[in-house]
Amino acid sequence: MPSSKAAVNYREKEFPMTDKDFKRIAGLAGQYTGIVLGEHKRDMVYGRIARRVRKLNLDSFCNYLDFLESNPQQELSSFINVITTNLTSFFRENHHFDYLQEKVLSEVKRKNSAQKRIRIWSAGCSSGQEPYSIAMTLNKFGVPADWDVKILATDLDSDVLAKARAAVYSTSDIDGLEESTIKNYFQRSSGNKEVRVKEKAAKYIHFKRLNLLEKWPMKGPFDFIFCRNVVIYFDKPTQKILFNRYADMLAVGGYLFIGHSENLNGICDRFENLGNTIYRKIR
Ligand SMILES: C[S@@+](CC[C@H](N)C(=O)[O-])C[C@H]1O[C@@H](n2cnc3c(N)ncnc32)[C@H](O)[C@@H]1O
Repeated sequence: MPSSKAAVNYREKEFPMTDKDFKRIAGLAGQYTGIVLGEHKRDMVYGRIARRVRKLNLDSFCNYLDFLESNPQQELSSFINVITTNLTSFFRENHHFDYLQEKVLSEVKRKNSAQKRIRIWSAGCSSGQEPYSIAMTLNKFGVPADWDVKILATDLDSDVLAKARAAVYSTSDIDGLEESTIKNYFQRSSGNKEVRVKEKAAKYIHFKRLNLLEKWPMKGPFDFIFCRNVVIYFDKPTQKILFNRYADMLAVGGYLFIGHSENLNGICDRFENLGNTIYRKIR
């Protein structure tokens, strides 16, 4: 019997998933992504991995795991892509973009006026709505045309990155945005079902696949980093390492934006808490 609090018998489902299978999945997820899969994630894991078992015409989770472990070059990225949770939206946690517009961008512009350079990182960018929202905010702010501005947008999941690069979204994804934002930054398709992010926002962004647990090829320094709703899936020791590395990557006085249910208390003391999940590097 599974030890989960729900009385679900995973042995009687379409594909059997034993306790041992679940532990193997959780172990591989932790090893390759840093994502912690606790007992309460069993249903979610079942649904997501069952998709791969079905797709590969296998008959059990155990056979799937054997296949994954003996063919990582073939299956690992699909495994990672189903394990990650990619929920995101344009201008999610809107106060962060207001703060960029009202405070951060004018400060960065003043500070970097000699180099005329701005460097931004959206870490765990999912399908792109976050870096595009940053780009729209930059464009609205009015960075001078001769400035060298780059937004690095990274994620581990290759499927969401492909969507992000395509810059095409369903019209429902822009529901609730201000009419002026829609008009300025989105091109409607002829059938009116999809929209494409306009070049004046897209031009700043470079999408790259990057596992946050691995070596980072870039040197920084970044003026600000968004890493929102990513570390919530990691354990505390991983969070400590990650926030310390973000501090190393930020310019002195650089900003870090994290997710609404995340904080740095007892995790990293190199930032000053400005409130509203906005932090500033102090050392
Ligand atoms: C919930 S989404 C957050 C998207 C966006 N930052 C936001 O707040 O709307 C979390 C993203 O983190 C990514 N992720 C998870 N583990 C990762 C890792 N080890 N390295 C890089 N990205 C990772 C997932 O693929 C997913 O797209």
